[in-house]
Amino acid sequence: MEKSKLIWLNGEFVNWEDATVSVMSHTLHYGTGVFEGIRARDCVGGTSIFRLNDHVDRLYDSASAYNLDIPYDKEVLTQAIKDSVYLNELTSAYIRPLVFFGEGEMGLLPNNVPVNVSIAAWSWGAYLGDDAGNNGVKVCISKWKRISPESFIPTAKGVGGYMNSTLAKIDAVNNGYDDAIMLGDGNVVAEGSGQNLFLIKDNKITTPPIETGALGGITRRTVIEIANNLNYEIAEQNITKEELLNADELFFTGTATEVIGVVSVDGKDIGTGSPGSITNSIRNNYLEIVNGNDPISENYLTLVK
Ligand SMILES: Cc1ncc(COP(=O)(O)O)c(C=O)c1O
Repeated sequence: MEKSKLIWLNGEFVNWEDATVSVMSHTLHYGTGVFEGIRARDCVGGTSIFRLNDHVDRLYDSASAYNLDIPYDKEVLTQAIKDSVYLNELTSAYIRPLVFFGEGEMGLLPNNVPVNVSIAAWSWGAYLGDDAGNNGVKVCISKWKRISPESFIPTAKGVGGYMNSTLAKIDAVNNGYDDAIMLGDGNVVAEGSGQNLFLIKDNKITTPPIETGALGGITRRTVIEIANNLNYEIAEQNITKEELLNADELFFTGTATEVIGVVSVDGKDIGTGSPGSITNSIRNNYLEIVNGNDPISENYLTLVK
């Protein structure tokens, strides 16, 4: 990790090394926190954050879903997120706000336990590697099922739920794949270990509904809008394992991942075994938008200063 200088912790910026917590923090023991993943990029008008308000809204929604009462207004955290990029002199950055219970009473009920907030920003390149944009990624269907809406709140970015994602990711990499696709309840396709998934068959685009356990991704939302603008037919629809393996194209979406073609599943090539033409057109449009080069960019970008 390319450390930066400062981390915002509970209302003030401190040196990265000084942003520490007690080992008795509730979230360390029970996974009871929530977080966001946001990107800022070096846009023509200056460094800008993509869909900042949507990310802040989701952070508060996740916190409320998992009973964390964030002790700051949205405006305060929004400004702190912008400052975390600006004060660290980053021209592009990955930003990680985290809301977590600190030290108080031990036990599952977080009584008399303070809610802490940290915001770190650092320089982080392509999540799935520099070649993934051109070559796509190879995935397996994970033996691990995605957290169920009957046990967790998969639409919230809850810290504990990511034990499930790390099981899938580690298992995929140990078996020589770049990442994993996870099935949800009823064995329908849910999403990747840290990405949403889209499928293309006969020029029609589908993506699993969030009822499968998929996160309501902000990139997913953007891609649905892009597909509509480019006049592709697109629908939220259940996808079976068989439909997955017989797709013409597949692609992952996520803030860290961006838009990346999935070129094989369990060793079987998807389409030609390279990112397909619809994937590429959506990826290119997405990159234009997030980098400030599309007429709709201004709807979504917030300058850090
Ligand atoms: C499990 C999971 N699914 C999907 C996504 C994609 O969401 P977004 O596009 O909001 O980054 C992420 C990334 O945050 C994720 O962790």
